[in-house]
Amino acid sequence: MVTLTSIIGKRQKRVDSRGKVTGSTRFITDISVENMLHAAPVYSSEPFGKLVEIDAGLIDQDPDFIAFYTAKDIPGVNQVGVILEDQPLLADEIVRYHGDSVGILVAKSHESALRLAAQVMVNIEIFDPVLSIDQSRNATENFLHESNLACQHQVKRGDPESKFATATHIIEARFETPFQEHYYLEPQGCIAQPDGQGGIIVIGSLQCPFYVQKAISKALGLPYSKIKVEQAPTGGAFGGKEDIPSEVCARAALAAFKLNRPVKMIYSRTDDVQLTSKRHPFQMHYKVAVSDEGKLLAADIHLEENAGAYATLSSVVSYRSAMQAMGPYVIPNISVESKSYYTNLPPTGAFRGFGSPQAAFGHERMMDTIAAELSMDPVELRLKNILKVDTETLTGQRLNSSVGAEETLLTATEAACWNNKIPSSDPRWKIGYGVSLIHYGNCLGAAGWFMDGSGVKIKVHRDGSISVAFGLVEMGQGALTAVTQMTAEALGVEPERISVLATDTEQVPDSGPSVASRNVVMTGNAIRDAARKLLPTLKEAAAELMDCDLNEVKIEHGWVHNTRNAGALRFKELTNYLYLSNRPMDVLGWWHVPQLEYDPVSGVGEAYFTYSYATHIAKVAVDTLTGLVKVEKIWASHDIGRAINPAGLEAQIEGGTAQGIGWALTENFKLKLGKVLTNNLTTYLLPTALDVGEIQSILVEDPEPEGPWGAKGIGEPAIIPTAGAIANAISNAIGKPVNSIPIIPERILELLGN
Ligand code: MOS
Repeated sequence: MVTLTSIIGKRQKRVDSRGKVTGSTRFITDISVENMLHAAPVYSSEPFGKLVEIDAGLIDQDPDFIAFYTAKDIPGVNQVGVILEDQPLLADEIVRYHGDSVGILVAKSHESALRLAAQVMVNIEIFDPVLSIDQSRNATENFLHESNLACQHQVKRGDPESKFATATHIIEARFETPFQEHYYLEPQGCIAQPDGQGGIIVIGSLQCPFYVQKAISKALGLPYSKIKVEQAPTGGAFGGKEDIPSEVCARAALAAFKLNRPVKMIYSRTDDVQLTSKRHPFQMHYKVAVSDEGKLLAADIHLEENAGAYATLSSVVSYRSAMQAMGPYVIPNISVESKSYYTNLPPTGAFRGFGSPQAAFGHERMMDTIAAELSMDPVELRLKNILKVDTETLTGQRLNSSVGAEETLLTATEAACWNNKIPSSDPRWKIGYGVSLIHYGNCLGAAGWFMDGSGVKIKVHRDGSISVAFGLVEMGQGALTAVTQMTAEALGVEPERISVLATDTEQVPDSGPSVASRNVVMTGNAIRDAARKLLPTLKEAAAELMDCDLNEVKIEHGWVHNTRNAGALRFKELTNYLYLSNRPMDVLGWWHVPQLEYDPVSGVGEAYFTYSYATHIAKVAVDTLTGLVKVEKIWASHDIGRAINPAGLEAQIEGGTAQGIGWALTENFKLKLGKVLTNNLTTYLLPTALDVGEIQSILVEDPEPEGPWGAKGIGEPAIIPTAGAIANAISNAIGKPVNSIPIIPERILELLGN
């Protein structure tokens, strides 16, 4: 008898690594279809104004010109806003940012499309642009939309006023965080083609096929059943392919629909950086009352977010940052206001963490500011206030299980030898250590609960192979590998038997967006649901075939055992018999996040169904002569409930931490009157291997009862604590508070007074 060894928790090579490493994976740029045309966006080069005229001049004389479409060509509704209906698919009256698309130009080649698009004259009557949160908030007229407030969320709990009236320590500080560009290696792109029966098929680099389906349906006035969206292998996304592909694909679909020919649109890097969403810049004001012993008594927190020209996913960012504004600490009295303001800048949207890295920078710099005020060790202050089982989050949510915050803090401090830190021996280089602790609500939370369900379809073939379709996507995070492992475990078969299909909108019901670190939790639970439905059929057939009782059948590692007489047959013999005995060969699995008790007016209640926790400790060396900061090491301890693939988890932690280092230190996003100046890798400095230093991952497994095999999400928690840890470490090194990022050398020299 073969012994079962669980595949959950085993280090796995990525199932898609061979294609990516050898270059045989075909990304959207590599894909062509017969008779295909090429499109490019035509957009405003002014940040704000009235669209007076679009003059396509003599370009229709060009032999490569095919067509040019504007808002008036849209047969359905000219609206692509993902949450609020504030964004036309093609601007037809007002342009609100440099990059606001007013048309789509179709030509014979990619190069000629770009060349001709640049020749279209977009005449705009210019308005005074709103370029900052302060300008937007203070404006009394010429609003971008009905008002300049895009959205807001709040938490009001307990009685902060009375605590502020009596507390011995009231500590206040302001923090600022900047834009961040996703800089996925593969720019936005898709191919839209008529299906020959009045419908449209789109294949693209994207995170949310069901969002794209909805957007095309709206723009073309076609039913969902006429629109099939398929995800191409995707070269990075990080949230940047959550909202934007709806625009890109719907515009390409418009052209394909009008011309009745396939149309491909791939953004150039320059256009991608100028036109697409970024991380929201935040301005934060924290006021916290603390007891002499260091207990958090009350907080009054104001978060302000720069939404750019359209709301896109600002509501998610504003909600999440409010719910997590004071971090994984007990604080019974709290007032949080989180507001997103429109500006005439590129829209800001989803970016790994949805506002969590910004709020985490605020609460973790605040914790260090409090520790300094009380002359207390930053770890000691955090331990005094940390969330544990049977405590309540800042929204008053009682936590019953899987609260690994303290264990992440203790394991990280032990690994970093926090209590025996080695000082610098070189007077030029100052060494500093910083700690940062976070919680991250898994999945969409109370505000998005209605759409927080996901599906899988598992099909067993006659020959014993298995295909799995899932409603979420692989975008570099390792989803295909985790889905393979979880399916193998749930059915008792070897992973080699399993093929995970490319995601498309036809295979499973609308599974919501591939965001919010939700794939393992949602898809894993849907796989378990599918297995619960499929295993009785398999066992019934096996019992019939092996002449035993149903409960005497055991399926393990690709073998089917009769435990009564130690008889065994191969899994493929069972699946063949399944077919011959006319039994169902496929099953749909589904899982929805459990009901959440939450009051949207006060913001009190169960904001999310469970939380991941993490501690990052950074060790930095600051060159006092040049201002350069070197990250020497980051200890990253993450409570992920249960590791499905430890190798994949470590890769996520290392990738997220590196992206956090970039945001904290090197990525200095610059605009002038709404035009992005840092639109290439010479001017927008992504961290390289030399900037990242050493990252030590520590996995804490405090199982979540509602998670599949106990697992929780990791994709976003990986980036959230990093910038706070680095800023705390630099503040520790130089003895000056670092309350904004990026911390470029010039800033360090300024802080040092050099
Ligand atoms: Mo991501 S911000 O969950 O698309």
